[in-house]
Amino acid sequence: MRPGLFKVCPVIEPNNIQNIDFAALYREQKSRTDFKPKAVADWDKRAPQMRTRLMQSIYNDAFLERVDLSGCESLLDVGCGPGNLALPLAGRLKAVHALDFSSQMLQALRENAQECGADNVTTHQLSWEDAWADVPRCDVVVASRSMEVADMQTALLKLHHHAKKRVYLTYKLGGSFVEPEILEALGRTITPKPDYIYIVNILYNLGIYARIDFLPSEGKGLNWASEEEFIQSVRWSLGELSSEEIERLRAHYQQRARMQALGDRPVNWVLMSWEKHDTE
Ligand SMILES: C[S@@+](CC[C@H](N)C(=O)[O-])C[C@H]1O[C@@H](n2cnc3c(N)ncnc32)[C@H](O)[C@@H]1O
Repeated sequence: MRPGLFKVCPVIEPNNIQNIDFAALYREQKSRTDFKPKAVADWDKRAPQMRTRLMQSIYNDAFLERVDLSGCESLLDVGCGPGNLALPLAGRLKAVHALDFSSQMLQALRENAQECGADNVTTHQLSWEDAWADVPRCDVVVASRSMEVADMQTALLKLHHHAKKRVYLTYKLGGSFVEPEILEALGRTITPKPDYIYIVNILYNLGIYARIDFLPSEGKGLNWASEEEFIQSVRWSLGELSSEEIERLRAHYQQRARMQALGDRPVNWVLMSWEKHDTE
């Protein structure tokens, strides 16, 4: 049975949008993309740096101001990282459940919770793929910038199942974590990730008609502390780089530094959200 709020009339033409299997199209492109998912160890290593760096940002403010907590007492944050969304919301709720597969991210979140005096947060070290049998259903479920999954439909159904009232998720706009200019400088063509529109359409196939909004994030003009950090950020997204590619990136960085006056380019995230009724 479809979990959604609305039932769509069945249509028999094969090319009708209702008959396109967006879940399968997502899985297929996700298996081919050059942006490979990160392992637990990669996120563990990033946690100390993210613990402070993520806490203040225009993205957090934009996300938080769109979350409707009316009538809500509990929240589940999936892929919570160091708690940059879960912790500001904890003060307005009775219970917060923070789920992440990285023990170091959860450790960072616990330290941040202690610092801000949030004593109503329970952590769950689990991945998207694990069973969440011991994670309680909550009024609001959020998944911010964390939906790196091979099977998007299964992950969306998990969010939907665990929510009593509302779901909010964000996903990068455009399918690439590396800007076109940087790819050009590298001389690489890539297979991007499936873009957010797959998610909107998978939800549509499930009978869930999501609201869409676009959130700003910190710009990437010359947002790296050094040339080495810039190269490391490209390596994080694309994996190993040849020495020739590294030289090209260095030249690009220098050129960018000279063009800094052009200003930052905002990185956009897409917020998808929907209401849930108790009967679903
Ligand atoms: C980019 S951070 C986002 C953190 C926070 N939600 C935010 O928006 O700032 C991605 C988070 O998702 C977690 N994550 C990535 N893949 C995951 C998986 N398969 N299962 C559970 N958590 C995962 C990482 O450990 C990391 O904390």
